[in-house]
Amino acid sequence: MTEGALSARVTDAPGDPIFGIVELFRADPRPHKINLAAGVYMDEAGVTPILPSVRTAEERLLATATTKQYAPIGGDAAYLAAAKSLLFRTVGGAWGEIESGVADRVQMLHTPGGTGAVRLAVDLVSRLRPGAEVWVGEPTWPNHTQIIDAARITARRHDWITDDARSLNATALFDAIAAAKGGDAMILHGACHNPTGIDPTAEQWREIAEQMAHRGILPILDFAYQGFGDGLIEDAASLRAFLATGCELLVASSSSKNFALYNERVGSLAIVGSDAAAAATIATHARMAVRTMWSNPPAHGGAIVSTILGDAALRTQWESEVSAMRTRIQQSRATFVTALAAVGAGDFSHLLNHRGMFSLLGLADDQLKRLREEHAVYLVSRGRINMAGLSSAKVPIVATAVAAVL
Ligand SMILES: Cc1ncc(COP(=O)(O)O)c(C=O)c1O
Repeated sequence: MTEGALSARVTDAPGDPIFGIVELFRADPRPHKINLAAGVYMDEAGVTPILPSVRTAEERLLATATTKQYAPIGGDAAYLAAAKSLLFRTVGGAWGEIESGVADRVQMLHTPGGTGAVRLAVDLVSRLRPGAEVWVGEPTWPNHTQIIDAARITARRHDWITDDARSLNATALFDAIAAAKGGDAMILHGACHNPTGIDPTAEQWREIAEQMAHRGILPILDFAYQGFGDGLIEDAASLRAFLATGCELLVASSSSKNFALYNERVGSLAIVGSDAAAAATIATHARMAVRTMWSNPPAHGGAIVSTILGDAALRTQWESEVSAMRTRIQQSRATFVTALAAVGAGDFSHLLNHRGMFSLLGLADDQLKRLREEHAVYLVSRGRINMAGLSSAKVPIVATAVAAVL
């Protein structure tokens, strides 16, 4: 190897913590293996299906599309309008009605998934607020800190849940808000926290938003699971709390989960400025950042979303598909808690207070290794379980396995 070679003096990068476990699962030849590690919705048969509304939209697109021409840097206008309506929909309002005082101060960009949106949000902090640090609760989705590192910004990790990973430690969260300096940013999960399932209440969101606005901290709301908690509108309580303060805000949303469009890479960044001019100015920087990263977004997923949301009947169908996914996740949680108690694993009723697909069972690495090796059950670190990976047949098997390693 020559001195100047790209590979000179480097060792392997650490693997991605979640995809790494999923790779181990794939390589396991045992037919009875159970994947509770992947962050995707699965149905009772363990399949991540194409939603029927998505299939219909794709059929329409196939019949009518005329070009594969580039999309604008920020994405197609129809998708951006649809994504905006979904995020900022007024409680009790008709489709298309947006929270008052918000419509003008929002600029939307179509990003490759929620990951692209978070990356763009953090990139904007690095471009527009030099010296700012980005605060992130521990634990969080591991890619948050990887993205912050990639943007060459200092990540400030802070506590925010109780040691037993069962509930919110509001004191720790407010201490972090008080410790951040004005101009810093803080990433918060809009709903269905990954990996803990612990979401603040609407009242707590209002308090968090007020404190952050008061301290001048930029909220980056990572909203990857809208509709998987209590409902599409209910889950946006966090967002509405920040809007009510009038503060600037970045919202990273994803259509990967609620439209099951995982590999289409569709999401959006909503830039909420203090007024219309501020949002428009920030958006010029966002478009410049996009031009240097992915140039313009992959259009197909956005076209699917705008086809569904732009057609009243398809939208109603999709809303019931989201509702069915949410109900299945909630039922899996409930049957799992009952099964854990039945096999003597203990009282896990706190899992019923959690929202979305994930919770932490609080398992150590050696227990997770035993679950994999002795029981072919795959979880992520600290025992992050994906409730959607359970089925009525798998629940007793997993509960028994967990009891055996506890
Ligand atoms: C908290 C959180 N943010 C963002 C994402 C990004 O999702 P995607 O880029 O697949 O849309 C995920 C996906 O797992 C997530 O859990």
